[in-house]
Amino acid sequence: MRRIDPQHPSAARVSVTIDYQERELVAGETLAVALWEVGIRRFRNSVRLKESRAPLCLMGACHECSVMVNSRLVRSCMIAVEAGMTIRTGESE
Ligand code: FES
Repeated sequence: MRRIDPQHPSAARVSVTIDYQERELVAGETLAVALWEVGIRRFRNSVRLKESRAPLCLMGACHECSVMVNSRLVRSCMIAVEAGMTIRTGESE
Protein backbone atom coordinates (compact mmCIF):
# COMPACT_ATOMS: atom_id res chain seq x y z
CA MET A 1 0.00 0.00 0.00
CA ARG A 2 1.37 3.40 -0.84
CA ARG A 3 1.95 6.32 1.48
CA ILE A 4 0.03 9.52 0.69
CA ASP A 5 1.35 12.90 1.74
CA PRO A 6 -1.56 14.41 3.73
CA GLN A 7 -0.30 17.93 2.96
CA HIS A 8 -0.36 17.41 -0.79
CA PRO A 9 -3.12 19.44 -2.50
CA SER A 10 -4.43 16.35 -4.29
CA ALA A 11 -4.87 14.39 -1.03
CA ALA A 12 -8.64 13.99 -0.73
CA ARG A 13 -10.06 13.83 2.76
CA VAL A 14 -13.09 11.74 3.62
CA SER A 15 -15.28 11.51 6.71
CA VAL A 16 -15.08 8.47 8.96
CA THR A 17 -16.26 7.75 12.50
CA ILE A 18 -13.59 6.82 15.02
CA ASP A 19 -14.86 5.75 18.44
CA TYR A 20 -18.12 7.67 17.90
CA GLN A 21 -16.39 10.87 16.77
CA GLU A 22 -16.47 12.09 13.20
CA ARG A 23 -12.99 12.68 11.79
CA GLU A 24 -11.43 13.34 8.42
CA LEU A 25 -8.71 11.06 7.06
CA VAL A 26 -6.86 10.99 3.77
CA ALA A 27 -8.65 8.69 1.33
CA GLY A 28 -6.54 5.77 0.17
CA GLU A 29 -4.04 6.06 3.01
CA THR A 30 -3.32 2.90 5.00
CA LEU A 31 -5.80 2.95 7.89
CA ALA A 32 -3.13 2.18 10.52
CA VAL A 33 -1.03 5.16 9.41
CA ALA A 34 -4.06 7.44 9.15
CA LEU A 35 -5.19 6.53 12.69
CA TRP A 36 -1.69 7.09 14.04
CA GLU A 37 -1.58 10.52 12.37
CA VAL A 38 -4.73 11.65 14.18
CA GLY A 39 -3.34 10.56 17.53
CA ILE A 40 -4.73 7.07 18.02
CA ARG A 41 -2.19 5.06 20.03
CA ARG A 42 -4.37 2.26 21.39
CA PHE A 43 -5.56 0.10 18.51
CA ARG A 44 -6.66 -2.93 20.51
CA ASN A 45 -6.32 -4.47 23.95
CA SER A 46 -4.61 -7.78 24.58
CA VAL A 47 -7.08 -10.47 25.56
CA ARG A 48 -5.48 -11.71 28.77
CA LEU A 49 -3.87 -8.63 30.32
CA LYS A 50 -5.94 -5.91 28.58
CA GLU A 51 -2.76 -4.10 27.63
CA SER A 52 -2.83 -1.46 24.88
CA ARG A 53 -1.50 -2.58 21.52
CA ALA A 54 -0.43 -0.58 18.47
CA PRO A 55 0.96 -1.32 15.01
CA LEU A 56 4.29 -3.10 14.98
CA CYS A 57 5.09 -4.70 11.63
CA LEU A 58 2.86 -2.71 9.20
CA MET A 59 2.83 -5.69 6.85
CA GLY A 60 0.00 -7.84 8.10
CA ALA A 61 1.96 -10.31 10.22
CA CYS A 62 1.54 -9.30 13.88
CA HIS A 63 -2.18 -8.38 14.20
CA GLU A 64 -1.28 -5.65 16.74
CA CYS A 65 -3.05 -3.04 14.60
CA SER A 66 -6.43 -4.80 14.67
CA VAL A 67 -9.47 -2.55 14.94
CA MET A 68 -13.16 -2.99 14.23
CA VAL A 69 -14.21 -1.51 10.89
CA ASN A 70 -17.92 -1.64 10.12
CA SER A 71 -18.32 -4.31 12.86
CA ARG A 72 -15.60 -6.51 11.40
CA LEU A 73 -12.17 -7.11 12.97
CA VAL A 74 -9.48 -6.13 10.46
CA ARG A 75 -5.75 -5.50 10.40
CA SER A 76 -5.68 -1.75 9.84
CA CYS A 77 -2.30 -1.87 8.13
CA MET A 78 -3.85 -3.98 5.36
CA ILE A 79 -6.76 -1.76 4.32
CA ALA A 80 -7.12 1.71 2.87
CA VAL A 81 -9.21 4.56 4.23
CA GLU A 82 -12.62 4.84 2.57
CA ALA A 83 -15.45 7.30 3.12
CA GLY A 84 -18.01 6.32 5.73
CA MET A 85 -15.94 3.80 7.66
CA THR A 86 -17.02 3.23 11.25
CA ILE A 87 -13.93 2.41 13.27
CA ARG A 88 -13.76 1.19 16.87
CA THR A 89 -10.45 0.91 18.67
CA GLY A 90 -9.61 -0.88 21.90
CA GLU A 91 -11.47 -4.08 21.10
CA SER A 92 -9.90 -7.29 22.34
CA GLU A 93 -8.88 -9.82 19.75
S1 FES B 1 0.94 -3.78 12.18
FE1 FES B 1 1.30 -5.89 12.18
S2 FES B 1 -0.44 -6.72 11.22
FE2 FES B 1 -0.74 -4.60 11.11
